[in-house]
Amino acid sequence: MKITFIAADNTTTVVDAVEGESVMRAAVSNDVDGILGECGGAMMCATCHCYVDDEWADATGPQEDGESDLLDCAASEVRPTSRLSCQIRMRADLDGLVVHLPDSQL
Ligand code: FES
Repeated sequence: MKITFIAADNTTTVVDAVEGESVMRAAVSNDVDGILGECGGAMMCATCHCYVDDEWADATGPQEDGESDLLDCAASEVRPTSRLSCQIRMRADLDGLVVHLPDSQL
């Protein structure tokens, strides 16, 4: 399944992901600039902050417990579609997911 990452400068990167993989892991393993994932997905860093594209916000769902607290520490503006990409797990109905990247994670 595919995930499209759109950077703050509009650079677009499309990567392959497998079912159950987090969006953060798919980004990091494909060297997508703009997702750091420093804590490895343990919800301790907020360097995997992303903005889910409006078209996909319903499918990915709202922030999970604890995400909004951690997003308060994010380096970039937090928006209604902000998510920690380590908390979004790929599944069949998310094939084609589009996420936007903040201009900074640190
Ligand atoms: S990778 Fe650290 S909170 Fe997502």
